[in-house]
Amino acid sequence: MIKPKSNEEVELMRISALMVSDALSLVAKELKPGITSAFINKMVDEFIHDNGATPSFKGYNGYPFATCISVNDAVVHGFPNDRELIDGDIVSVDIGVFKNNFHGDHAYTFAIGEIDSETQRLLRVTKESLYLAIEKCIVGNRVGDIGFTVQEYTEKKNGFGVVRELVGHGLGHKMHEDPQVPNYGRKGIGPKLIDGMVIAIEPMINLGRKEIYTESDGWTIRTVDGKVSAHFEHDVCVRPNKADILSNYAPIEAAEKKNPNLFWSY
Ligand code: MF3
Ligand code: CO
Repeated sequence: MIKPKSNEEVELMRISALMVSDALSLVAKELKPGITSAFINKMVDEFIHDNGATPSFKGYNGYPFATCISVNDAVVHGFPNDRELIDGDIVSVDIGVFKNNFHGDHAYTFAIGEIDSETQRLLRVTKESLYLAIEKCIVGNRVGDIGFTVQEYTEKKNGFGVVRELVGHGLGHKMHEDPQVPNYGRKGIGPKLIDGMVIAIEPMINLGRKEIYTESDGWTIRTVDGKVSAHFEHDVCVRPNKADILSNYAPIEAAEKKNPNLFWSY
């Protein structure tokens, strides 16, 4: 069942979404070669608790950490670990917070040091596809319009692989609410978008083939061909004329640009 949010509820959800944006900004400030994803995870976990919230992911279906940190061929749901990050890594950081009884859940993929031109194109196209999809989040459109837009741009126009098994989702009191929001589909099909509906849109786009597998840890999703994958996620409220993006990349991108260890000019 799809439950649209009242204006008051949307404002509470914005608080949760922006707390994730602030956590991702902190990550953007601290990322550099030599640190570990476990370190990033600990920092974010503390940040969330310091701000009077709890991490949405920890304990969700038994997931053991506050964040998902997915490096290179890891698509999503990567476990933070003790491997030191190196020049050329791309690092998807996905964070959820629960505050005022509402979840925020969004993600950004960072590039450490120099990355090759194909990986740059993957990051640019994946982020662009998210914003093209958000343009479709207006009353009267359908969920299929969102997936169609992502797939057309990333797969048809740019030749990348669109992950099929994992999807975006409604967001609210629960982290995963109806509807499912696939990154592929057909125009004009699926549930109608209604005023006040809040969804997390999260294209997961592979440089190579679309096929994925789950690692033996039971969580980490990786590309079958071993090529890199990008992941960007925003929390979006459907409105009549223009979508309201509850999360915010501006402070993350500002911190990214200030950090000489990150590559951002793709
Ligand atoms: N952004 C991811 C999602 O919406 C995060 C979930 S990770 C989990 O599915 F560990 F909490 F499952
Ligand atoms: Co999500």
